[in-house]
Amino acid sequence: MTLQPWPSQWPYPLWIAHRGGGSAAPENTLAAIRTGATAGFGMVEFDVMLSRDDVPLLIHDETLERTTDGVGEVSAHSARALLQLDAGRWHGPAFAGERIPTLDQALDCLLALDIIANIEIKPATGFERRTGEVVAHAVAARWPAGVRPPLLSSFSMDALEAAREAVPDLPRGLLFERLPEDWAARVRAHGALSVHCDQSALDVQQLRAVREAGLPLLCYTVNDAARARELIAAGVAGLFTDTLDLPQRCAT
Ligand code: G3P
Ligand code: MG
Repeated sequence: MTLQPWPSQWPYPLWIAHRGGGSAAPENTLAAIRTGATAGFGMVEFDVMLSRDDVPLLIHDETLERTTDGVGEVSAHSARALLQLDAGRWHGPAFAGERIPTLDQALDCLLALDIIANIEIKPATGFERRTGEVVAHAVAARWPAGVRPPLLSSFSMDALEAAREAVPDLPRGLLFERLPEDWAARVRAHGALSVHCDQSALDVQQLRAVREAGLPLLCYTVNDAARARELIAAGVAGLFTDTLDLPQRCAT
């Protein structure tokens, strides 16, 4: 896959529902992805980690307590055990019974809804390379040839490098809490397609510099209309949001 420099062929939507459906649904579930799509999002972001037996699953935290009725480390449980947990009740009774999805289930859901995803590779500590490799292979095995592929990203360079070695053609973005001084060299060294960054630690001059270098910059997590408008005016390529009516509010 060869993509021309942005913006001529940047193939992803501006608005991305964070963790599937932002704050409107339990994060990283199929209900969240459906909620994002129903709200009009053509792209969602979700986090993927491995079970003890190397099954890629959608979950953000290394531990189960915040978003499920399980206890302990995700990486200490088999997929069979994790898939029995309730991952919806914490958000509200309407979502009771919602499960942790496998990456395969999430990919099938995206295809059925005809939307795309940013798959954030979120390895448990010590499983960085294995997680990158397994996620890349899972996407390549399931995603149809000729259909615009999901965009991979990670805070972990080890995970991204392993994903690149496993399936070099999948597009990848470097993910930062704070844009480093040497972002351009890092992008070149890795062969990344995009840079993803926490908007709260980013000023508009930095965004313009990335934009002028011809690279798409995506910002998380933008829930304020004034800030979103400022970033759009400066040329941001993607906005991750928890607030599903923000695109409409920014369009008016
Ligand atoms: O990928 C963007 C964003 O999701 C990174 O932060 O902690 O919400 O996964 P986090
Ligand atoms: Mg994430």
